[in-house]
Amino acid sequence: MTGRVFGIGVGPGDPELITVKAARLLDACSVVAYPATEDGASMARSIAAPYVAANKIELPINIPIATGRFPDAAIYAAAADRIGAHLHDSHDVAVLCEGDPFFYGSFMYLYGLLAESGHVVEVVPGVSSLMACAAMLGHPLAAKNEVMTVVPAPLPTDALRQRLSSTDAAAIIKLGRHFARVRDVLDELGLAERARYIQHATMQEQKSLPLRAVEPDKVPYFSMILTHRQGVAGQ
Ligand SMILES: C[S@@+](CC[C@H](N)C(=O)[O-])C[C@H]1O[C@@H](n2cnc3c(N)ncnc32)[C@H](O)[C@@H]1O
Repeated sequence: MTGRVFGIGVGPGDPELITVKAARLLDACSVVAYPATEDGASMARSIAAPYVAANKIELPINIPIATGRFPDAAIYAAAADRIGAHLHDSHDVAVLCEGDPFFYGSFMYLYGLLAESGHVVEVVPGVSSLMACAAMLGHPLAAKNEVMTVVPAPLPTDALRQRLSSTDAAAIIKLGRHFARVRDVLDELGLAERARYIQHATMQEQKSLPLRAVEPDKVPYFSMILTHRQGVAGQ
């Protein structure tokens, strides 16, 4: 009998935000795969650390961030082959994913490849960074019939302007080097004063700042901006 694959959302950072189901499956699976940078650092693996026993077979999926190509089909195809070999050996495989696997998570590419090859693949939802950031701020995201939009910061400036001007609330993700451009659009739309910037939510080094206090060249990958036309939903 071949093994099964579980795409496991490990939540936004705090290991206590891993679900009971995710913890149980991490204990049960003999192989644990996870995305990692070229030097081996993996946020998903470090979040899940308290739940990964020393006897697991570990399978880092090294994803170079410098190539500028995303997603890199060859890397995911090779990772799917490596996972497939363990499945044929009857191992169950847990694939870790920061936050939720199907919310901008890299696991979706593996999901497609593994399911197409006839493997049994199950997704275990995780606490997403949006929910973590709202909870950290103590600001509800959206209420009643308000429209909330998730806006990736790498979008062209015109698209950012259009999306942000036509929604009640927004989460602007993948900020990094795009922070200053996003801040300028929010300024132009009169939304900057009410927006909040959050980095590393639920991690030890978490912090939130008004936009004017953020140093654009120090914005890390794990950061986002939450905005609401009224400042906070439900008011
Ligand atoms: C590729 S998306 C993955 C989202 C993830 N699957 C989730 O459910 O939260 C990565 C983006 O999510 C946001 N993010 C993830 N974790 C975060 C955290 N702990 N604090 C702030 N933003 C975070 C950042 O905007 C980051 O660039």
